Amino acid sequence: MTRLEKLYEGKAKIVYATDDPDVYIQDFKDSATAFDGTKKGTILDKGRMNNNMSARLFRLLEDAGVRTHFLGPDSPTAMRIRRLDMLKVEFVVRNVVAGSLANRIGLPEGTALKKPPLVEYYYKDDALHDPLLCLGHIEELGVVSPDELAEATRMARKINEILQKFFAERNLVLVDFKLEFGRDKAGNIMLGDEISPDTCRLWDAQTQDKLDKDRFRRDLGGVEEAYAEVLRRVLSEGVSAKEGD
Ligand SMILES: Nc1ncnc2c1ncn2[C@@H]1O[C@H](COP(=O)(O)OP(=O)(O)O)[C@@H](O)[C@H]1O
Ligand SMILES: [Mg+2]
Repeated sequence: MTRLEKLYEGKAKIVYATDDPDVYIQDFKDSATAFDGTKKGTILDKGRMNNNMSARLFRLLEDAGVRTHFLGPDSPTAMRIRRLDMLKVEFVVRNVVAGSLANRIGLPEGTALKKPPLVEYYYKDDALHDPLLCLGHIEELGVVSPDELAEATRMARKINEILQKFFAERNLVLVDFKLEFGRDKAGNIMLGDEISPDTCRLWDAQTQDKLDKDRFRRDLGGVEEAYAEVLRRVLSEGVSAKEGD
């Protein structure tokens, strides 16, 4: 697969065209940003770690019948992906209160949600700083049809079930995560983007230690070590949650 021109350079990845118009290459960067891009830094080896983690998790989802953009590996930091027309809405799935939800509704971080998961919608618009959207806002904007919203929400819940179990078998609590979906050329909704400690909150099940980008956001130290530990566990066999009791 030949890598052609750079189409887009974002905060965490670079997207390249290839000689196949339906295939892109997504190359993961070591750079990290937080707080709407105001905090910038580098997490050593993050590109390789997030690429490998995302590849493993996309395969897990595909095996469980969830359609994703993942086609295969390309290099240590890059994967081949199906070209999608990305939805302008991002999906945040939450099992436990953390981050902006703690600030929004005033419950302490770590509170288990009564009816998990909670699915939130955010407008993917940098100029507006990615605001939270109500259903009425999405209807008014018309950027995602009611059918697409229902389908992506259903997929987000299924992805949560699969990932929650997978991480639990690896002694990790899936607190919350962000998903981006897109349409393929036939109009099918598929999962795109990435699944990594940049986009998931993951806590050690025993110690509640944060093993995700909050270590960078909150200057907790041990950032690279946390990403490496999550990668190690994701690539490991895992232990059935019941047997492990
Ligand atoms: N399969 C895909 N097809 C087209 N674009 C994609 C696909 N998967 C992810 N993207 C987009 O590629 C970009 C990835 O780069 P990233 O650094 O995450 O960007 P950003 O800074 O906008 O978050 C995002 O804009 C994302 O929506
Ligand atoms: Mg992104």
